[in-house]
Amino acid sequence: MEIIFSNETLALVQKIIRRYPPGRQKSALLPLLHLAQAEFDGWLSAPVMDYVASLLDIQPIEVYEVASFYSMFNLKPVGRCLIEVCHTSSCWLLGAEDIVRHLEQKLGIKKSQTTPDGKFTLMTVECLGSCGTAPMMMIGAEFHENLTIEKVDEVVEEWGEKGKRSRYC
Ligand code: FES
Repeated sequence: MEIIFSNETLALVQKIIRRYPPGRQKSALLPLLHLAQAEFDGWLSAPVMDYVASLLDIQPIEVYEVASFYSMFNLKPVGRCLIEVCHTSSCWLLGAEDIVRHLEQKLGIKKSQTTPDGKFTLMTVECLGSCGTAPMMMIGAEFHENLTIEKVDEVVEEWGEKGKRSRYC
């Protein structure tokens, strides 16, 4: 498969790059990685990162370093719906472990795994900045807060029906 952004995304890429002074195009790396992850199945393969490097005229290693530093970038395939349960202090104190256990049981997988039908990936993540409404999880681009087991079930079932794609649907 040839790795190339759609024309629409390429226009956006050029617009983002133009925000920065000539020679500083590397500053556009983070937004381009988000676009790449959204367009290429929710994760960043080596060829995708190489493509981003070529667009910015930088070395592939510079892209790998950034992509592997931030947990919002997936370096291996994920399901169409990425569930990220915060397990940091506030969420942990208010039941994040029970939520993860429930999701593992419901989906029949362990954390960091994907369901065999490729629909869901379950991850635990560090604080997502919504501590006042803990416990919370992110699914796709949506925050779900003040979670209860019932609310988790509702959200997951709704997403399962929609079959949405990853973080940026
Ligand atoms: S501790 Fe969970 S959002 Fe901050």
